[in-house]
Amino acid sequence: MSRLAVIGAGYVGLVTAACMAHIGHDVVALDVNRSKVELLQAGGVPIYEPGLAELIAAHRDRIAFTSDLGSAYAGAKFVFLCVDTPPTYSGDADLSRIWQALDRLPVDEASRILVTKSTVPVGTGAAIQMELKNRGLDNIHYASNPEFLREGSAIGDFMHADRVVVGADEPGIAEEVAELYKGIDAPVLTTGVASAEMIKYASNAFLATKISFINEIANVCEMTGADVSVVAQGMGMDKRIGPHFLQAGIGYGGSCFPKDVLALKQIAGNSGYHFQLLNAVIEVNELQKRKVIHKLKSHLGPELRGFKIALLGLAFKPNTDDIRQASSIVLAERLMAEGVKVVGYDPVAMDNIKALLPSFCCTSSAMEALDGADACVLVTEWQEFLDLDWAAALDTMARPVVIDGRNALDGARLTDLGFTYEGVGRKS
Ligand code: UDX
Repeated sequence: MSRLAVIGAGYVGLVTAACMAHIGHDVVALDVNRSKVELLQAGGVPIYEPGLAELIAAHRDRIAFTSDLGSAYAGAKFVFLCVDTPPTYSGDADLSRIWQALDRLPVDEASRILVTKSTVPVGTGAAIQMELKNRGLDNIHYASNPEFLREGSAIGDFMHADRVVVGADEPGIAEEVAELYKGIDAPVLTTGVASAEMIKYASNAFLATKISFINEIANVCEMTGADVSVVAQGMGMDKRIGPHFLQAGIGYGGSCFPKDVLALKQIAGNSGYHFQLLNAVIEVNELQKRKVIHKLKSHLGPELRGFKIALLGLAFKPNTDDIRQASSIVLAERLMAEGVKVVGYDPVAMDNIKALLPSFCCTSSAMEALDGADACVLVTEWQEFLDLDWAAALDTMARPVVIDGRNALDGARLTDLGFTYEGVGRKS
């Protein structure tokens, strides 16, 4: 079993730390944010991720949290870089935290392998290796090990990964990193650093393309009388297509897809290649978020000013409190700009939305949001909304209009109850 330093106690870092401890490694997670480290040391977990708190608690003897460089690196053969790489204004990835981490690497004789889990543009690994060489840090070897976990199911995704990708340019290094994953039942693909970096971007861009594709099919379905859910089912039965990521809705969000699709477009552009397909994927996604406004207008009239509209769900998907690039934000801001009184409720993302949109009116329950509402939009398909007492909702709403942005509600039942129900990709 090995000793690992995990740099960055964010989403990827905490899940990596917990899962690596679970399979027997000793882990020290380092973060520059002292209050976050204090919270973790006291047994708290700063993010909402099902099963994460329990897993950390179960392996406290093998996980330590610190903001002290010395104790993080002492005895650590592997250093996992899990810092975030947010998009810059230009759409490129901001690598400042990667370079900061590099500046803070220990200058000693110990042989270590620096493993990048953060999503970094293709070519970053080559630049890091050049920098290590220039600094004379020949004892630090390099590997790329992109992370594919999904928020909300991150622990399961890590422990039962479809694949583990490890890229290294020096012989034997990828194999050493792959060895760490012995306790996980997943095929391992070893390759060069650049290919490993590209696998991550290409995978996310392809999944985003699938979503934009099915959303465009949905839009054509609405005009032609076909039902996108059945169309997706029929498409998915073809093994070459597969059934996953064909759920039409109001667009993809989150911390990865929007950022990574844009970054891949920029990576191509910076190399002089115009990645046309990705432009369409991005544009379709932006338009898809706004389509809800047209639907609301078709039911309430062309002027939405003065209406009260309830948004059910604000997180970018269920089982997370993450609102980064969530469709709810665009929708809320567009509706507020139209003079609508927008109210919203989410089981766990309320604090995040209040911090981002202080003027947004949050309620403490779904029913409270629906009280007197002229329409409601299901933005995030939390189970709580699927199980809602919709008969009671009908009584509390001013008008019985439900726009189901995720095709997750039982439309036939809502229609029987007396609602005007409209989903995505179906004739209303
Ligand atoms: C994604 C990738 O799945 C993961 O491999 C990568 O490491 C990080 O990015 P995540 O952002 O957690 O993970 O969310 P995911 O479950 O993939 O969903 C992304 C968005 O796509 C959500 O907004 C979701 O609602 C939307 N989506 C997903 C659809 O609209 N339709 C689908 O069929 C699937």
